[in-house]
Amino acid sequence: GGLATYDPGFVNTASCRSAITFIDGDEGILEYRGYPIEQLAEHSTYLEVAYLLLNGELPDREQLDDWVHEVTYHTFLHENLKQFIQGFRYDAHPMGMLMASVSALSTFYPDARDVLDADARKLQITRMIAKMPTLGAFAFRHGMGRPYVYPDNDLSYTENFLAMLFKMSERKYNADPRLVKALEVLFILHADHEQNCSTNAVRSVGSSQVDPYSAVGAGIGALYGPLHGGANEAVLRMLREVKTVDRIPEFIDGVKNGKEKLMGFGHRVYKNYDPRAKIIKKACDDVFEVTGVNPLLEIAMELEKIALEDEYFVKRRLYPNVDFYSGLIYEALGFSPEMFTVLFAIPRTSGWLAQWEELITDKEQKIARPKQIYTGYRTRDFVPLDQR
Ligand code: CMC
Repeated sequence: GGLATYDPGFVNTASCRSAITFIDGDEGILEYRGYPIEQLAEHSTYLEVAYLLLNGELPDREQLDDWVHEVTYHTFLHENLKQFIQGFRYDAHPMGMLMASVSALSTFYPDARDVLDADARKLQITRMIAKMPTLGAFAFRHGMGRPYVYPDNDLSYTENFLAMLFKMSERKYNADPRLVKALEVLFILHADHEQNCSTNAVRSVGSSQVDPYSAVGAGIGALYGPLHGGANEAVLRMLREVKTVDRIPEFIDGVKNGKEKLMGFGHRVYKNYDPRAKIIKKACDDVFEVTGVNPLLEIAMELEKIALEDEYFVKRRLYPNVDFYSGLIYEALGFSPEMFTVLFAIPRTSGWLAQWEELITDKEQKIARPKQIYTGYRTRDFVPLDQR
């Protein structure tokens, strides 16, 4: 009973209390557990940040070593999962493969259904964070028709991921440390972003107390959508279309006339420079030092410069967001555009699972079940088929 509040897209409804991620969109501030994203990106590793998100505090040396060891120990997949991935068509989208294989993990670990047991939850969280890069890399290599590379547990989390993606010989894979660092930074920046669409999906599905593989599978589905995880791909397409610096003014005019959007600009929450975009812009320099400059960088920088001085963008408080520069790096690292969202999903897994753990242990939480405002008919008598 009672009148429901109408709030499509939940733009003004808090679905939970959360102590994980803080955003101030007007000031352009992002903090995980109170630590500014800039400091974490500079000083931390992805697994250290994952620990922070999951446990609320930075680990000490021993806690970090234990955590890294546990994650490393779980990187291998059951052999049958390899056949499962093998079953996809050669041109299957890697996000579809990732979503399906993460969901399939729930059948390999029936103990995951015991979501009210803290130790069982910890085990599934460790497993999933460990296996995501392996699944992402297998999906990538399936698309290329290349043999899968098994995890090398002597390598760090990100080095191992790069090796599983790009290793081409029996020799030990040696990633350039600057590329490893850049990937760590990108992973840290994408680890959590409070109640975004995919996190809300994980919480909503998780509130039924289904196992976390099924809940994260739903989150991957949400992230797959072009309004959420797919924008970095669109930025790259746009930069290619603009093609040369001299065509930028014409393109900007088109945006101002509503012909198209300046992809990678604007954000529901940030009405200031997205702090993640600033950090990624810096990381570009380090990556391009190794890979050579992505020629699209010049167009991106000039677009940004012109947009930030143009009244249309200033008035609407449109600034570059996380996706404006990330695709340039991904491309320089050797990824095709379909992989971009997989590179988002892998680190976001720690955020999804931290939020899932918070949900399950929150005594105030209930099964997610929004209200509706019914606009259909009330009671009518059934009409037999021959009288309609
Ligand atoms: N280019 C041109 N105009 C824009 C843009 C843009 N990228 N973004 C917003 N505007 C205009 C919009 O047309 C509107 O103008 P007016 O008031 O004249 O109608 C005004 O700015 C306000 O925009 P809005 O659509 O009400 O803002 P929103 O909060 O609903 O949308 C957004 C946010 C991110 C969907 C939107 O800015 C957008 O589509 N940006 C491009 C896509 C993109 O880069 N998405 C990545 C988001 S960050 C990563 C993630 O969340 O996964």
